[in-house]
Amino acid sequence: MSGTGRCTVVVGCQWGDEGKGKIVDVLAEGADIVARYQGGANAGHTVHVGEDEFILHQIPSGILHQGKRCLLGNGVVLDVEQFFREYDGLAARQIALTGRVGVSRRAHVLLPYHRFLDKASESSSAQKIGTTGRGIGPAYEDKVGRRGIRVVDFADGAHLAERVEAAMERVCARLDHLGHGAGDELHRQMDVALALRERLLALATDTGPEISRALKAGKQVLLEGAQGTALDLDQGTYPFVTSSNTTAAGAATGTGIGPTAIDSVVGVVKAYTTRVGEGPLPTGFDAEMDEHVRRLGGEFGATTGRPRRCGWFDSVLSRFAAQVNGLTGVAVTKLDVLDTLAELQVATAYRMPDGSVVTDFPADTRSLGKVEPVYETLPGWQAPTGGARRLEDLPAGARRYLDRLEELTDAPVRWVSVGSKRSQIIEVV
Ligand code: IMP
Repeated sequence: MSGTGRCTVVVGCQWGDEGKGKIVDVLAEGADIVARYQGGANAGHTVHVGEDEFILHQIPSGILHQGKRCLLGNGVVLDVEQFFREYDGLAARQIALTGRVGVSRRAHVLLPYHRFLDKASESSSAQKIGTTGRGIGPAYEDKVGRRGIRVVDFADGAHLAERVEAAMERVCARLDHLGHGAGDELHRQMDVALALRERLLALATDTGPEISRALKAGKQVLLEGAQGTALDLDQGTYPFVTSSNTTAAGAATGTGIGPTAIDSVVGVVKAYTTRVGEGPLPTGFDAEMDEHVRRLGGEFGATTGRPRRCGWFDSVLSRFAAQVNGLTGVAVTKLDVLDTLAELQVATAYRMPDGSVVTDFPADTRSLGKVEPVYETLPGWQAPTGGARRLEDLPAGARRYLDRLEELTDAPVRWVSVGSKRSQIIEVV
């Protein structure tokens, strides 16, 4: 894996959907282990292999490279039904899986009632987050509330039954309170999920020791983030965030290795910005441009199909992401989407509601919704970039745009993706 160390984190630097799946797929070629460290089936990592498209929600994108071991760390909330649907779907497409997938014994299990609760609380809450409806918030609430069920709890049937019964009692009362009775459907889905017990246990491992042993033996490890920096529970646009630590530090806690084991962090940014779900998008386009770029970039959610809001590149956010993740390199994706635009804008600062100009990403999400970005205008290149394989193949305007992104982000651009195919990537040497 040139350009990275032995243990590398790949992290999203915007609001998710930066194209991490593609970058992980490319870097996975040189890795021995690829591990997810947070999130769950809310993620949708799209990877193109030849003419085939794969959308992975929980299994790391490394699974598409023969022989790589793929792990789900303790920091993920593992939707057991969805996980085996994905697993079986890959097997049906002739991906060899035996011995290649492991799930942490310490990972919390996301059960159907979490999805029911997610939907019920979104529809009855005054402040909508625009979640993916995959049960992520309720599963992490159970974890933090110390009432969750972990993979290791599946080992003892009687103990599991007790935990599930207590959870169902709590959940049904809560659903009633929210005016959304559980009904037979929840019980039916619970039966399906719990019937997967033996299959789940067969994949159980301890991800921390497994990864540490691999590193000691000189192997290469890739830690795959989901969502993005601005959706991080602590660093993002709270409360319009997901319920986990998406940022690079979460890769250590979410797999069970020490932070000193990580030696490089690759931040993925799209050449423009998108956001799905509620919450501010400071550099959002006007309606016409929004529609135009959404069409050019095919900006619809891989998990929910929702249209993504689109906007100019925001270097206030990318600089924040470089700082908070300790980026050692940046991968810029979807540069080709901008090929036809005559002019490009890049936000370099925000004018706050009180008239002050800031270059640090503000903690106050309500103010962020009212800022006016300070833009710098750059000329477009109006030439196709999809065939470029070296930096020198890019039009001068595209190179200038990348140079400016690098300067403003304050981290070196190491990869540029110019299309969805595996081959459409430039490694900056
Ligand atoms: P949740 O993670 O489903 O609870 O959703 C919380 C917020 O994160 C919502 O704004 C979602 O749209 C957003 N979100 C969650 N997963 C992704 C993702 O993979 N890509 C982009 N946005 C996401």
